[in-house]
Amino acid sequence: MNKKIKKILDKKNKSKIICLTAYSKNVASILDKYCDLVLVGDSLGSVLYNFKSTKQVTLETMINHSKSVRLGIKKSLMVVDMPYNTYRNPSEALKNSRLVMKETKCDAVKLEGGKKIIPMVERLIRNKIPVMGHVGILPQTDKKFTFKGKKTKEIERILKDSKLLENAGVFSIVLECVETKLSKKISNHIRIPTIGIGSSVNCDGQVLVTDDLTGLSQSKLKFIKKFVNITKLIETGVKKYKSEVLTKQFPKAKHSFSK
Ligand code: KIV
Repeated sequence: MNKKIKKILDKKNKSKIICLTAYSKNVASILDKYCDLVLVGDSLGSVLYNFKSTKQVTLETMINHSKSVRLGIKKSLMVVDMPYNTYRNPSEALKNSRLVMKETKCDAVKLEGGKKIIPMVERLIRNKIPVMGHVGILPQTDKKFTFKGKKTKEIERILKDSKLLENAGVFSIVLECVETKLSKKISNHIRIPTIGIGSSVNCDGQVLVTDDLTGLSQSKLKFIKKFVNITKLIETGVKKYKSEVLTKQFPKAKHSFSK
């Protein structure tokens, strides 16, 4: 087993697992110092490209961003989201995941869904491609983005899907916007770690979109906490730059070349 994956598994019930998203090298290299897992999420569709849904994200876009992220990662586990319509059947899932693994040198891929995707997950794992699961809100296919776990039927389905994914061999499952009691139930019910986003402190680890926690995005979803406001810092620098260029204080002789 991949040593980095073993490290993640070993944290269950011992220490929280720290995960964040990265879409490029410079951010990835900062996160790498603090994270156990860095995810190249297809959330980049809305965050970077203003897409209405992650359905528009292509395999090529994921591969290009992941290649950049790879350059910034030394120690964390790197996981890449398989975009919409790239894993509709086992052979498509295998062909595309193999391409992602080969091109990006990532450690694992993430697929969204439960029972429906089990044949694809099994095919990948049989072919030694580590898989992370994702239940709760499924941005690639859900029409409504409201939290999951309100109704008994939904609770039973998500619980069952999590167990099916565990049995299929995923090493971890993202729980997206799963109700607090249900995330506890799932986390207690399966032996692999759960990674929550909007799913309470009950999960074995947490993930956020880095642009949200740094205040680069304007997202105001309930589960987001802005830990810092990078937009303000960038504005301060840009304003200073503008002022110094206008007043000819920049560039100085030390920034210039002379024979
Ligand atoms: O696409 C993404 O960034 C994700 C995380 C929010 C879990 O799937």
